[in-house]
Amino acid sequence: MKDILQELEDRRAVARLGGGARRIEAQHSKGKLTARERIELLLDEGSFEEFDMFVAHRCTDFGMEKERPAGDGVVTGWGTVNGRMVYVFSQDFTVMGGSVSETHGQKICKIMDMAMQNGAPIIGMDDSGGARIQEGVASLAAYGEVFQRNIMASGVVPQISLIMGPCAGGAVYSPAMTDFIFMVKDSSYMFVTGPDVVKTVTNEVVTAEELGGALTHTNKSSVADGAYENDVEALAETRRLIDFLPMSNRDRAPVRPFFDDPARVEMSLDTLIPDNPNQPYDMKELILKLADEADFFEIQAAFAGNILTGFIRLEGQTVGVVANQPTVLAGCLDIDSSRKAARFVRFCDAFEIPILTLVDVPGFLPGVGQEHAGVIKHGAKLLFAYGEATVPKVTVITRKAYGGAYVVMASKHLRADFNYAWPTAEIAVMGAKGATEIIHRGKSAEEIAALAAKYEDRFANPFVAAEKGFIDEVIMPHSTRRRVARAFASLRGKKLTTPWKKHDNIPL
Ligand code: HXC
Repeated sequence: MKDILQELEDRRAVARLGGGARRIEAQHSKGKLTARERIELLLDEGSFEEFDMFVAHRCTDFGMEKERPAGDGVVTGWGTVNGRMVYVFSQDFTVMGGSVSETHGQKICKIMDMAMQNGAPIIGMDDSGGARIQEGVASLAAYGEVFQRNIMASGVVPQISLIMGPCAGGAVYSPAMTDFIFMVKDSSYMFVTGPDVVKTVTNEVVTAEELGGALTHTNKSSVADGAYENDVEALAETRRLIDFLPMSNRDRAPVRPFFDDPARVEMSLDTLIPDNPNQPYDMKELILKLADEADFFEIQAAFAGNILTGFIRLEGQTVGVVANQPTVLAGCLDIDSSRKAARFVRFCDAFEIPILTLVDVPGFLPGVGQEHAGVIKHGAKLLFAYGEATVPKVTVITRKAYGGAYVVMASKHLRADFNYAWPTAEIAVMGAKGATEIIHRGKSAEEIAALAAKYEDRFANPFVAAEKGFIDEVIMPHSTRRRVARAFASLRGKKLTTPWKKHDNIPL
């Protein structure tokens, strides 16, 4: 009996060594943790339960039958993050470069199926040379099976991808379909075709980092939602994000203990809006002052800075925040910000996370470039996302809400539940000068200036909209936290239905 138990221990020890000490050393020398070290840091201590530790590939080509490492290049299983269950897979680059074989894919599919069945998030740690070259089409099939599960799991359980090494070719499409992608600076990259192929086909010379590194994907392409300094930081931030999210669409987000008075008054907000309407101010200040303990988990912080997206808590409950940022492009909506916010709104709606919208938007960004790149379709994404969302929606207009952008930003007309405005709000079709020039075409500059002042007096305030009931209340800036927290509290029982449909056809 003792020998039998010992054999299990021995087999486990071999499996845990992955590709062996030399390759582990090579992994460490690149500043990367191993697959198992990553799992240890991601999950609560001692909570990891492994599946399929002894699974080995079945390939017999190219002499592969001689080397059949236990685990086949991916560590899978489940554990907890602050006591809440998650499923994980972590590709082991020390075993054949973490390449995906038929059996490697089956291991990932198994935990994805269990995650969907049991209602818990899937966190993938990607570090792989891609399709296992020796296995050919069997490897492509394995990817296809994973992709199909990414699609099935979308909107059912949160899916998070941590890119911690190479992720190239068609392999990128699995993380691309997950809800959040985080990358590690200088040690991860994602591209459909690498620098060598790019050079051959287009003659462009580019490094892997420039083509698809963490900064490229968080600043330029917006493929990734966050870039972190190293594996440890990426894993710690993922734990922080999981704390904001429900385990599945059958659950609500967790309610965390809070030590911040929901009725806290913030007198400084009364002077947040500058006297000059063209002067910017930092909307992040408002978000931090509204949030419990000033805790804001920002999504896509480095992309489309004219809109802010992320999670806060109010009375311990998760709220998704979308906010125009006047310090960037005066807070205008454009293609990038519309796409960024639309995807965020749809995530919140899929997982029953209420949405707080903070509005200071002078309109859509004008320009040939915007029009030719399809701002109509992309702007419509955000409009569509807000209009279809059935979660509790609370909107606060702090200053400008002009034109189409007024309607788009969770207005009353898109089924928002509470629409508040600060006394500094200006809600109108367009700015006073432009409006006057159109209505009074041909008048002299002095006359236009006088008429514009009149127009401004009449419309640059929240009261015309409040008279019509489009604004439910004009509120004091200093009491915004209390008003918003009470609004969400009153909406906890919200139920809203939409006409039956197979699915909608959001403009893509
Ligand atoms: C089998 C692989 C492998 C692969 C790496 N290895 N990629 N084995 N299939 N795809 C093995 C190597 O042979 C090596 O084995 C070990 O992993 C580490 O690889 P190195 O090359 O030494 O590491 P490094 O120098 O860090 O380079 C990493 C790399 C490079 C850039 C990822 O390995 C590479 O270019 N690999 C091939 C990538 C590729 O072309 N993949 C197929 C893409 S097509 P030893 O025994 O020496 O340790 C694809 C399609 C997916 O993925 C489609 C889905 C629909």
